[in-house]
Amino acid sequence: MEHNEQLTQIKVLLSRLDSGTNVDAGGVRLNPTNSYTDLARAGRERELFFGSHPQLLGLSCDLPQPGSFFTADDLATPILATRDEDGRFRAFVNACRHRGVVVEEEERGIKRRFVCPFHSWSYDPKGALVGLPKEEQFGEIEKECFGLVELPTEEKYGFLFIHPNPSGSVDVDDLLGEDLAQEFDAWDFGSFSRLGGDRYEIECNWKLAMDTFGETYHFNSLHRDSLANFFQGNVQCYDTFGQHHRMVLCKKAIHEMREWPEDQWDITVAGLPVYWIFPNNIVMPSEWGLYVVRAYPDVNDPGKHTSVISFYVRGDKASAAGTNNGVDERQALLETAPMEALSAIAQGFAAIIRDEDYVASASQQRSANSGTLEHVIFGRNEPALHHYHNTYRAALGLDPLPLLDPASMA
Ligand code: FES
Ligand SMILES: [Fe+2]
Repeated sequence: MEHNEQLTQIKVLLSRLDSGTNVDAGGVRLNPTNSYTDLARAGRERELFFGSHPQLLGLSCDLPQPGSFFTADDLATPILATRDEDGRFRAFVNACRHRGVVVEEEERGIKRRFVCPFHSWSYDPKGALVGLPKEEQFGEIEKECFGLVELPTEEKYGFLFIHPNPSGSVDVDDLLGEDLAQEFDAWDFGSFSRLGGDRYEIECNWKLAMDTFGETYHFNSLHRDSLANFFQGNVQCYDTFGQHHRMVLCKKAIHEMREWPEDQWDITVAGLPVYWIFPNNIVMPSEWGLYVVRAYPDVNDPGKHTSVISFYVRGDKASAAGTNNGVDERQALLETAPMEALSAIAQGFAAIIRDEDYVASASQQRSANSGTLEHVIFGRNEPALHHYHNTYRAALGLDPLPLLDPASMA
């Protein structure tokens, strides 16, 4: 985020704190609970959002050097991502061209050759078939025609995007739009390093996982003993960027800005930007790094999903502690063992998502499964929820959820 925009966002947060106001969606909307349970809808979402739409697969640092690879099994297509010897990001269908066995089972690492476990056909990081045992007995094939099936890719603004369909295409600038692309460019995610990650299989629809990142109205209740120690609940900024959005959450440390000269104001000290990249990605740059959460639907059950959470550390924090948000305990940790400390902070934050947010999400799913609530309500102070769901609906060809006046809800 450019510094001027950081100042604007911080001033809006301070004025909302001082006036006791919050962002206002202009009304409330009712969301049908069957959007979390309907089998046909879940199938269309999987096909349109996850099978026919570009996907964020990770950050540049997930493939830190030539020969680096990782695998991804959360989409219908098993994927092998590599950085080839020329430094280019590539992605392939992780399926052997002989008889289809998954070639690479390891999660990530560095390899010059990917060897299929079934009959040991081998492929290089460019996907070329470079060896098959007993070639003379197997029979003659044109090896250059039987490389791994390549998927469209683009690496930009430190992001790794793919299209899960070999005949699809990826244009990151077109996907993000000019304003959001410019904002991501300013974060310099390309200089970040991978710190770690986790994955959670949760009994809730993937959209309920996204929903929990869509408001801070719940902070003083659900997170009263955790995040509410650092965040000011129910105060935020909110902006849309086409299909995507940006929230800025308000940290209690924002009050330090009142004493600081404006040229030192820092949005990651005063708040936490939370970007949503349609359809399933949450990107949260912090004072020391970045959290990325991706939610994937279960193939068989609309009431289940997998969240993949990844932690990254900023280039200037990877080797030095630097400043933080003013919390003494964290400062001490950062100064003594930066990477271990950052990893512990990241795991702690992820655990809050798992043990608090996603517990509520699974609870919402249980009531949705019962079919007894026809709708849930999105408040005026929850504008991201309005935008998520009307964006999904538009992409599915459904009418938007209307803003309601109180009289019509009686
Ligand atoms: S299926 Fe891969 S080598 Fe036979
Ligand atoms: Fe939360």
